[in-house]
Amino acid sequence: MLIMEYNKRLKNSVWEYFDFLSGVDPYTLSREIRLIMPPRRVLHTLGVEERAVTMAHRFGSCDTEARQAALLHDITKSFPSQLKLLQMCDMLCEGRLLPAVLHAVTGAELSKRLGASDSVISAVRWHTTGRENMTKLEKIIYLADMIEPFRKEFPGKKKLGMLCLDDLDKALHLGLTIALSHVESKGLEVDPNTVRALSWITGRLQGHE
Ligand SMILES: [Fe+2]
Ligand SMILES: [Fe+2]
Repeated sequence: MLIMEYNKRLKNSVWEYFDFLSGVDPYTLSREIRLIMPPRRVLHTLGVEERAVTMAHRFGSCDTEARQAALLHDITKSFPSQLKLLQMCDMLCEGRLLPAVLHAVTGAELSKRLGASDSVISAVRWHTTGRENMTKLEKIIYLADMIEPFRKEFPGKKKLGMLCLDDLDKALHLGLTIALSHVESKGLEVDPNTVRALSWITGRLQGHE
């Protein structure tokens, strides 16, 4: 059983866990996911999956990729040391990464090793910050992560949820605005990718692109 193997191998090293999972296709992983995450994260992940698939149908994106990206987006978030994972993956050359972003980088690396498509990998990579020129799937996962039903309420969540079924770019604009003001209100460091994403989508909505 996967979970037994997981527990055994994680005790040895996270690197072995990567090796172990590399033989598991993303579809199988989707069935096993609830065994390898803490219950709260399982609920969140399944909530993101449900929202992402709904949005994929609404906006003409591939629902299989939306499902995979949703299931994989926080896959490494419960792992003991994100920094250790980065070192193992030789990914420290990407420049300075904020702690909240680390699991997106390691999650993208694991998704790659599991054989996910490039669009799924990039949706996992950019789900925490957004970026300039986001693809449709990146927008869907970024937003589904915010509006999934099990996420704690925040000002604007309901409005954002409705926009997510109506206009993807307007929803992204609102989602990025909410995320930036949340980070600033907490006195946390703002990721430059989020700032660039907001300025890009603002220009797009104003017809500059
Ligand atoms: Fe995440
Ligand atoms: Fe998440």
